[in-house]
Amino acid sequence: MKTIKDIDLKNQIILIRVDYNVPLKDGVITDDLRIRASLPTINYLLENDVKKIVLISHLGRPEGKENPDFSLSPVADTLRNLLQNQKIGFYQLPKKAEKINTPEDERIVLLENLRFDPGEEANNPDFIKNIIDSINANVFVQDGFAVVHRAHASTDAIKNFLPVYSGFLVEKEVENLTKVLKNPEHPVLLIIGGSKVEDKQPLIDKFINIADHILVGGKIAADGYKSENGKIIVAHDFDEDSMGNKLDIGPISTSEFAKYIENAKTIIWNGVMGKVEDPAFTTASSIIADLIGKNQDATTIICGGDTAGFVENYLKNHADLNYSLISTGGGASLEFLLGKKLPGLVAIAD
Ligand code: 3PG
Repeated sequence: MKTIKDIDLKNQIILIRVDYNVPLKDGVITDDLRIRASLPTINYLLENDVKKIVLISHLGRPEGKENPDFSLSPVADTLRNLLQNQKIGFYQLPKKAEKINTPEDERIVLLENLRFDPGEEANNPDFIKNIIDSINANVFVQDGFAVVHRAHASTDAIKNFLPVYSGFLVEKEVENLTKVLKNPEHPVLLIIGGSKVEDKQPLIDKFINIADHILVGGKIAADGYKSENGKIIVAHDFDEDSMGNKLDIGPISTSEFAKYIENAKTIIWNGVMGKVEDPAFTTASSIIADLIGKNQDATTIICGGDTAGFVENYLKNHADLNYSLISTGGGASLEFLLGKKLPGLVAIAD
């Protein structure tokens, strides 16, 4: 993959596709992982004297229409807090043939939600060409790992107009996920949780020949997941609420799972063990997050939006833990692990 280390960046105007599709509650960002994850690339570009960085992203699914509920304006504020010595501009998407004029000392600009225009999801080349021309961009950097599984104008059509390089986030995600698929160190352990068996079964099927063991917990196990395969170990005791709903895996299964985690050399965790929105049912997921974060002999990958969110939150009070990768991609990391071709990565390779 061509990365930003492969080019002379001096005085270039860089268009970066980031994924700032962050959760919002009443206009407030509740998890800024994806924004923080974009900083290494931004800082590297600044240090290497680029003229300007133009950040483009989507937020939510506004279906091709302007909608203030999906504005990236709160993200601009977060960026200003994170990069306090930088002037950061926030601009609407350009109309046809419109130029975006930015002051010279404003080295970072963020454009409004790409999905306010139907051209983004339609992979319309004219839409993205208009953005490139509006700001005179001459290099494109793909760093929105979470969106590389979409064939949209800012992930796919853009390759027709600018040289494409990967940023550090895409590079880190791809390197770690590739390590797991190709020549992983054994024992390889896949831990599955969450609620939708139809989402997780393809991953189990894919890893049945790669993993030494597959642990199944979460609602999937509580709903009675069964397997004849000796590699698959399904949780069998549960913590319940007063109505008898099984809302977390129980202590016996958790300590059985612990032994596999402590001995593994490669661990992929996708799916929480219980209803973690309720603090009463976070025990098993917390123990698992702890054990994985302490296994420093292993390559450890946390993937899936809920699982990554849970671990990020857990880390706030457990700064001693370490993971090889907390993936920012929900659907993208899953599709990558399933071995699918992802348009945004194909564009970099092309
Ligand atoms: C995600 O959150 O998984 C990505 O930002 C992609 O969003 P989408 O599923 O709306 O395309």
